[in-house]
Formats: sequence, structure tokens, C-alpha cells
Amino acid sequence: MRKKIVAGNWKMNKTLEKGVSFSDDLKQRINASDSEAIVVLGVPYIHLDRMAHLSNDLYSVSAQDCSTKESGAFTGDISSSMIASTGAQYVILGHSERRAYHRENNADLATKVDRCLLDALTVIYCCGEQLEEREANTHFEVIKSQLSEALFHLTAEQMSSVVIAYEPVWAIGTGVTASSDQAQEMHAYIRSLFEEKYGKAISDDVSILYGGSCKPSNAEELFLKEDVDGGLIGGASLNPSDFIQIIDAI
Ligand code: PGA
Repeated sequence: MRKKIVAGNWKMNKTLEKGVSFSDDLKQRINASDSEAIVVLGVPYIHLDRMAHLSNDLYSVSAQDCSTKESGAFTGDISSSMIASTGAQYVILGHSERRAYHRENNADLATKVDRCLLDALTVIYCCGEQLEEREANTHFEVIKSQLSEALFHLTAEQMSSVVIAYEPVWAIGTGVTASSDQAQEMHAYIRSLFEEKYGKAISDDVSILYGGSCKPSNAEELFLKEDVDGGLIGGASLNPSDFIQIIDAI
């Protein structure tokens, strides 16, 4: 069965102290909520260990990237096995900010996906088109190559450890959300690509999250769409009261 997931992406925000106090606040809110969503918090590396141990299984923690390498002389980098050793269960890969500011390409991401799966981490793989690509009507092609080049070497069994996040770049941090119809159209297309490659059972099971200015006021409308299985939430995941409203919207 397809999982319903609300994942936060804190990006480069919050000191460790602020992260811990967010965790305390969020746990109380999750305890009081009857949402059945799986809650994931994508936090900076320095928060992983502490937040994983504080979670009481009410949420899981996720890194926001990992190295393509297993270990060695790569100053400043963090490997998937180091992430797994903290108690984190997820890694966000291929976020458009990593693609833009760190020049990550689909081939690098294919390697990172492999590393994470070897360490039994679940990957939240981000894909999304730029505004110019949508305007030029190439958005379906862009998404197809982002998925096929980084993921389609995986076996059907490995695909059960991958979650997709569709995040149109023009909607990230801009306040402009894709309409629920635009989101549904792309999510259905993504699912059809999985069906073509892996068959119906796998495509029915893959969770496809929407990301890009998702907030309490629009989450429910987005989540009501048939192929939208939750969200990857940036700005609105920094505030426990906004974040729980999105969790409740599931
Ligand atoms: P946003 O970010 O919700 O602030 O638009 C989403 C993301 O970048 O994952």
C-alpha cells in the first residue's frame, strides 16, 4: 500500500538548540493528532543523531544530501553509512538547490541513490522543472530524464525504498504553488513512467509527494488529488504549528 508522507525540509535553518525545542513541540502536537501520515524531518547533518534519538518514533529524520563516496579523503563530506549510523532513516536527494548550487546531475544522483540503498536508507528523490522548461512545454521530458537517469537502473525491489518528490522549481520558496490540477497531471505522468518500467504493482505503491510552497492553506486541496501522496515542505516545516496543520491535512 502506498504510504502517505509529510516530510519537512529545513534546508540550512535552525541551530541544534532550536531543533531540539522544535522536536519537543512537534511531538506533543503529533501525540494530539489523529493523522496517519508518516512524518519525516529533513534536518541539517548536525541535528540527525540528537533528533533521531528524541523522536520517540513519532517522526523519522532525514539527511538532505550525502556523498557519492563511501569514505576517504573528502573534506567536509558525509557518507550514507555515517548518516545511517545516527539513526536517520531517510535521505533527500536531488533537491533543485543541490542541482543548482552544487551542480549535481542525474549521474551523480544515481550513485548517491545506490549508496543510500546499500545502507538501508529510504531515498526521497526530488525532480522538478524550471519555469522556462514549463513555458517551453518540455516539463514532461525533463522529469522523465531526471527519473530514468537516476533511478531506472534500480530493481523493482529496490524501488520500494524510494519515494518521489515532485517539486516544480518555480514553486519553491516563491509563494506560487502549482495548482492541484497541475500537480495531479504531473504525478499521474510520473506514476505512468513507473508503470511502463516496473509494472502496475510497483507504480501503485510508489509514494509521490508534492513540494513547492505547500502550506496549511493549500495542503488539503493538493492532498485530495488521487496521485498526490503527501508533501515535501520547506518554509512551512520550520514552524510546528504550520507543519502539524499540513500533517493533519492528510
Ligand atoms: P518551500 O520549499 O515549501 O519553501 O517552497 C520546498 C522544498 O524546497 O522542498
